[in-house]
Amino acid sequence: MQKKLLGRIVAGAAVALAAISLTPAGAAVVGADDKGSSVTASEKSGKPSPKIVGGTKAEQGEFPWMVRLSMGCGGALFEKDVVLTAAHCVDGSGENTSITATGGVVDLEDSNKVDVKSTEVLQAPGYNGTGKDWALIKLAEPIDQPTLPIAEDANLNEGDFTVAGWGADKEGGEQQQHLLKVDVPFVDDATCKGAYAELVEGEELCAGDMEAGGIDSCQGDSGGPMFRKDEAGEFVQVGIVSWGEGCARAGKPGVYTEVSNFAADIKKAAADLG
Ligand code: ARG
Repeated sequence: MQKKLLGRIVAGAAVALAAISLTPAGAAVVGADDKGSSVTASEKSGKPSPKIVGGTKAEQGEFPWMVRLSMGCGGALFEKDVVLTAAHCVDGSGENTSITATGGVVDLEDSNKVDVKSTEVLQAPGYNGTGKDWALIKLAEPIDQPTLPIAEDANLNEGDFTVAGWGADKEGGEQQQHLLKVDVPFVDDATCKGAYAELVEGEELCAGDMEAGGIDSCQGDSGGPMFRKDEAGEFVQVGIVSWGEGCARAGKPGVYTEVSNFAADIKKAAADLG
């Protein structure tokens, strides 16, 4: 429990610094190894490591509902003027004009990007740092891009997912200018519980390569969507990037908010936004 809280506080601090570099926070996370081993950030960074962690660049328009949030998180357009992100990416609920959502581009320096300010934030009711890691951000204006539907039942909580974001491309790595994506296989609750005793089954679902590691979301990807295609071949959001011990470690999958469990709450909350 202690370690998890530490990990989350560190992750929160990382989010605040995300526009620059997450190396100090990343190093602290590396230090919080569960075997007490003293792996340093520099030893880690000496390893070969490609993108998001282990991914590739997304094409312009491939995931048109992806947004980057100014506090250093990701999100997805639930409505054209409502972003679904993680509760741990926001400070609480209420009027809030301090967040900028950037949409319409894979390259954050692309002059075609659309920047829109927030007007209001709704953090999941009852959120206390464990489970329930979702939040909605109302935008001052719509971003004219397709929205990403959310999973309304658990049927799609299996198979291979995709996760995308502008977060670090390795543990302790830098935020990315270009959107990265990676495919991560579902990890069942029993297996994930073995990796993380604190897992909130039902509210969280896990994905990654348990045996080899090497593929994952990472700091700065938080709040972004994990998604897959449904029977009709349409993208559906099944997860929200939430937490993990380090990034892409073998035996330590990524943990995601189980969107289907909160679908009714999310829909109602979106309808109630000002
Ligand atoms: N909490 C992190 C953030 O704020 C996301 C960490 C995801 N970690 C992972 N190993 N999948 O950006």
